Amino acid sequence: MESFINEQVKKIEISGIRQFFNMVGNKPDILSLTIGQPDFPTPSHVKEKTKEAIDHNQTTYTHNAGILSLRKAIASFIKTNYQLEYDPNNEIIVTVGASQAIDITLRTILMKGDEVLLPGPVYPGYEPLVKLAGGTPSFIDTCQTNFKLTADLIEQSITPNTKAIIIPYPSNPTGVTLTKEELTEIASVVEKHNIFLIADEIYSELVYDKSHYSIGRFQEIRDKLIIINGVSKSHSMTGFRIGYILTSEWLAKHILKVHQYNVSCASSISQHGAIEAIKNGQDDPIKMKKVYQERRDYVFERLKGMQINTYLPDGGFYFFVDISHLNKDSFSVALQLVEEAKVALVPGSAFSQFGEGYLRLSYAYDIDTLKEGLDRIEPIISKV
Ligand SMILES: Cc1ncc(COP(=O)(O)O)c(C=O)c1O
Repeated sequence: MESFINEQVKKIEISGIRQFFNMVGNKPDILSLTIGQPDFPTPSHVKEKTKEAIDHNQTTYTHNAGILSLRKAIASFIKTNYQLEYDPNNEIIVTVGASQAIDITLRTILMKGDEVLLPGPVYPGYEPLVKLAGGTPSFIDTCQTNFKLTADLIEQSITPNTKAIIIPYPSNPTGVTLTKEELTEIASVVEKHNIFLIADEIYSELVYDKSHYSIGRFQEIRDKLIIINGVSKSHSMTGFRIGYILTSEWLAKHILKVHQYNVSCASSISQHGAIEAIKNGQDDPIKMKKVYQERRDYVFERLKGMQINTYLPDGGFYFFVDISHLNKDSFSVALQLVEEAKVALVPGSAFSQFGEGYLRLSYAYDIDTLKEGLDRIEPIISKV
């Protein structure tokens, strides 16, 4: 019977992150610095409103695009924080996490043979969704440009088959973000070509030292732009599964059809939690960010102390740790760390072939855990 199933599904692999866990999962005493979700509890006021939603029987289907008051709250939040204008009536769609937002966007725009440009190393959630939607992923190597996707790199990579480019910033796994100047150049390349730009801004509330600049500020590409965001990372609400899409009305109406037949709507209960988070929880990410920043600075000093070639991530909660001096592939080094140091980091190869030579270290862990983990891996990865 297996020959009867979708060829594309057979071809995609479970993610490199998961493959690694399956190998190390049962080993005892492993200290993990792998996880890609905030270690803070969901803010209490959000939990209370979510419980109230159940008590008040707000447990029915909602509008396909999401509860209007949530879309209005999103519209007001993105205007205040990022100076973006999207109409809550027809330009905002509430989704089941950023993940479903990416999926329905790709399924709306892609046809067989369409190419989608992805900066490598990159979050592993895009490539399989591009393939399932009939598209062909095409990676752009950002290793020589400090993990920055540049306008020149994009220009060189566009072919007649290019339908879209996905740009996540700040990036998972590198933590690198893009400045206003860099985004200006990228916007002018996109303006020149007939391609869509999918901006994954899920870490926008976790940018350190400067503020997030959204590519949505460039009106000249508005018709080609799909911005993806959500509350998973900003408000420590990964399990609520609430994301959203911002896009021009002409495109939103098509994406909404795919969304409707896919899930009808995001969970009503979670949407009520998200209304509270977005309306009254503006300080929640700020408090968490302060703690992440202390951890980031701590890890940075520790890596510098090991004389590892490193940089200060702009946002998110990951370090992409250079282990090229060990002259071994990242999967073997990650396995060695598990076996000899009892610490799990994610092999860089989980983020495309351009992640080879690196390990992803998450600092969504308290300082004591980070200290213990770094103490354990130091003898193996240190250059000193
Ligand atoms: C860059 C990026 N985009 C999207 C997602 C998925 O977010 P969500 O949990 O809201 O589906 C993640 C999760 O790790 C991510 O790192």
